[in-house]
Amino acid sequence: MALEAETKAIVAKFDYTDDDVNKAVDEFLRQMAEGLGKDGTSLSQIPTYVTGVPNGTEKGLYMAVDLGGTNFRVCSIQLNGDSTFNLTYTKVAIPKKLMVAKTAEELFAFLAKQIELFLKTNHEEQFVAHIRRRMTVSSPDGFRDENVFRLGFTFSFPVQQIGINKGNLIRWTKGFDIPDAIGKDVCALLQIEIDKLHLPVKVAALVNDTVGTLMARSYTAPGKTGAVLGAIFGTGTNGAYVEKLANLKKPLLGEYDKSTGDMVINTEWGSFDNQLSVLPNTPWDMALDKTSVNPGIQMYEKRVSGMFLGEILRLVLLDLVKNPAVSFFRDDNSNSNDWKSTTTIAQNSGIYTPWGLDTAIMSVAASDNTPELSVLRQELESTLNIYSPAYDDAQAFKAIAGAVAHRAARLAAVAIAAIVLQTGKLTDPALADEPIDVGVDGSLVEHYPYFRDMIYETLRIIKGVGEEGAKRIRIGIAKDGSGVGAALIALVAANMEKNTTPADYLAELRSQAINHHLTTVPEDGETVATD
Ligand code: BGC
Repeated sequence: MALEAETKAIVAKFDYTDDDVNKAVDEFLRQMAEGLGKDGTSLSQIPTYVTGVPNGTEKGLYMAVDLGGTNFRVCSIQLNGDSTFNLTYTKVAIPKKLMVAKTAEELFAFLAKQIELFLKTNHEEQFVAHIRRRMTVSSPDGFRDENVFRLGFTFSFPVQQIGINKGNLIRWTKGFDIPDAIGKDVCALLQIEIDKLHLPVKVAALVNDTVGTLMARSYTAPGKTGAVLGAIFGTGTNGAYVEKLANLKKPLLGEYDKSTGDMVINTEWGSFDNQLSVLPNTPWDMALDKTSVNPGIQMYEKRVSGMFLGEILRLVLLDLVKNPAVSFFRDDNSNSNDWKSTTTIAQNSGIYTPWGLDTAIMSVAASDNTPELSVLRQELESTLNIYSPAYDDAQAFKAIAGAVAHRAARLAAVAIAAIVLQTGKLTDPALADEPIDVGVDGSLVEHYPYFRDMIYETLRIIKGVGEEGAKRIRIGIAKDGSGVGAALIALVAANMEKNTTPADYLAELRSQAINHHLTTVPEDGETVATD
């Protein structure tokens, strides 16, 4: 009984009321405007130099790499020009020691090596042709640009972008910490390592995963206006949206095309409300922040994304385990356990180790509706080494995990609603029947049961959105969006490189249905497209 009452009290601490939600939306809008006006704000609102979204007719073969959290992905993407694409990719886990390497070179050399392996395995022909030509061309510059893959670099950390393939790292997030890289151009860091291996690859575009997701969603689900927002709810969280250039008041450092009147903005909403004026703040949120590698920043992300939800839950559970007034994962004797045994928490259980509880178990808890919660109880045994957990313990676990995730989903709705409101599309009479398209990706939104439903439930109570507005917001998964989006931006960049960038590059793409494929530079230096 004590456990049930204590669980209820804990769950109540994760309540984020309708009123809280509405206040947070107002504050989000305020912080968005602030970030559009100047640098150094909580919501960074980073201009991306991408000034339009695709419409599905784009074609060509591109490469993309994706460094975003736990894994590094290398892919090649054939854009078919009919809203479809074919993707080939490999994925490797980033060794933990490289996430906190002494020098940036160590990490980027590892990335370049993966690109080399990918090319050898999947594009041997181009790779060998390139090596052969390098050996036959006498001028050191002669081989520079031939058979070169344009590569879109998805780098999912806050970067001050200075141009389409240039950007300096502002700070690391999601457990990475390599101070040597801060302030450096991450495209140059990668290109240097690629060149050391003499690979036929040019880093053509720098892309945040949210921008990639936005582009991919517009390519695969084209509507009258394209997607308005690309969002990630995975290891980390963030969103990129299409903003009117007129609202962007802070000075831009690089060149860009002004004709569309729009620019994609990377909000870096993980750092929304670092000052905690509207974000909830339980003792466990505070404890987590203290032990993180970046205390005081990414405060929204620390309450919303996959990397952190498991740790919040672990801290709560640990307090419960230590609480002498309740019996949690502890039995007086086998009679107080419905399996007629007594629970043991192994010494090496992840529950005792910081970051030792993987958020994935929260999805198992949420989806287990078996009468005895036997699926969750088995998971507790296999992943957390908690043996013979009783039914009431599993119930408490499920309730608390559910409360942590529910709060995360409500906070996710705050960001989505604020951005939809900012675009003004809900009140634009010209778009009255149009869906408002939002592309999402990431483990949380993909695997946590009913995460999107909880977002919708919250959208309905938000002022200015309501039942009707929520119906028009179409939140769809853009799986592997960052890779496809990076390829799309590499295509744009290749177009800009040719110096034929029209006032509206998208209009050109539409009318010419360019099939870029690989770009070849013959010895006389003239650029031609191979197909
Ligand atoms: C990063 C963002 C990224 C997000 C999702 C955050 O930690 O700061 O740049 O988009 O994670 O991957």
